[in-house]
Amino acid sequence: MEDDIYILAIETSCDDTSVAILKNKVVLSNIVSSQKVHEIFGGVVPELASREHDRLIIPVIKESLKKSKVKLNQLHCVAYTRGPGLLGSLLVGTSFAKSISISLDIPLIEINHMHAHILSIFIEDNNTKPKFPFIALTVSGGHTQLVLVKSALDFKELGSTLDDAAGEAFDKSGKILGLDYPAGPKIDSISKKGNPKKFIFTKPRVDNLNFSFSGLKTNFKNFINNNSKEFVSKNINDICASLQDTIVQILIDKIITASKIHKISEFVICGGVSANSYLRNELSKLKKSNSINTYVPKLSYSTDNAAMIGINAYYKYKKSIFGELSDPSISRYPL
Ligand code: KG4
Ligand code: ZN
Repeated sequence: MEDDIYILAIETSCDDTSVAILKNKVVLSNIVSSQKVHEIFGGVVPELASREHDRLIIPVIKESLKKSKVKLNQLHCVAYTRGPGLLGSLLVGTSFAKSISISLDIPLIEINHMHAHILSIFIEDNNTKPKFPFIALTVSGGHTQLVLVKSALDFKELGSTLDDAAGEAFDKSGKILGLDYPAGPKIDSISKKGNPKKFIFTKPRVDNLNFSFSGLKTNFKNFINNNSKEFVSKNINDICASLQDTIVQILIDKIITASKIHKISEFVICGGVSANSYLRNELSKLKKSNSINTYVPKLSYSTDNAAMIGINAYYKYKKSIFGELSDPSISRYPL
């Protein structure tokens, strides 16, 4: 029997300060401190985000260690998000991971945040796991990407957004409605009381496996501006539900197209927007209608978290793929 591997993982790419401890593929603790300072600005303010990470990183590390009951001297490696993300935010996690690696004399493992979102599906729980090769749809606040995944170490981009990400479509539309950032979860909950087919919004015509959401944003803005405040507030549930339905159908259509082109029926949907309850429900229908099996990580592993960095590190540790202290953070880290 192989020895157990204890992993300390740090994620600070955007506005969540998160630290997780894993024993192999099992999450012992996954502490996420979501920064509230950005809410009133309608989006993440990079300078404030890095200051918050700097303030929170030590308490979050301490809490994660305490919850896991793992001692520092039990750790086999330390993993961190190298990119993509906001540089000032990444630097906080990167610097801490490097100092821990030096002080404990354990390997440093650098992780691509987008790989981590995808591999979060392999965190041990009772759910069925996808078989390789599969296609991953990563839908977050910064990305909307279709990725061919041949193994836990082999990723190839098939398509991505030409402008806004799916999460931005939620957040920017929410801002137009006066909702605080991030608006995605709020639109999700308001939509539960609405009719998703009441209003029709623009769906883009984008070739191949790319996406576009900026036309929808403009269309939505015009719709809100062309109607009275009374009309909007009276129909807010149906407006949110119809907007959400449009975004979700754009994603579902691309999944079906990607499945046909690549003859793959295994799909993993990950990233913050995969927390959307309407999307999850529409995905579950794909099995019957198109013979497509979809796998979505648990809610707590959908939005940014360090457990997903830890599971990615597990696969790299097994193959002794270690980073260097001289590795810089990379804001636009390619897939
Ligand atoms: O993956 P994530 O936590 O951070 C990034 O790497 O961007 O994704 C955050 C995005 C935000 O745009 C947020 O509005 C969206 O995920 N989001 C949702 C839901 N929960 C989070 N969008 C729609 N419905 C949700 N329930
Ligand atoms: Zn993310």
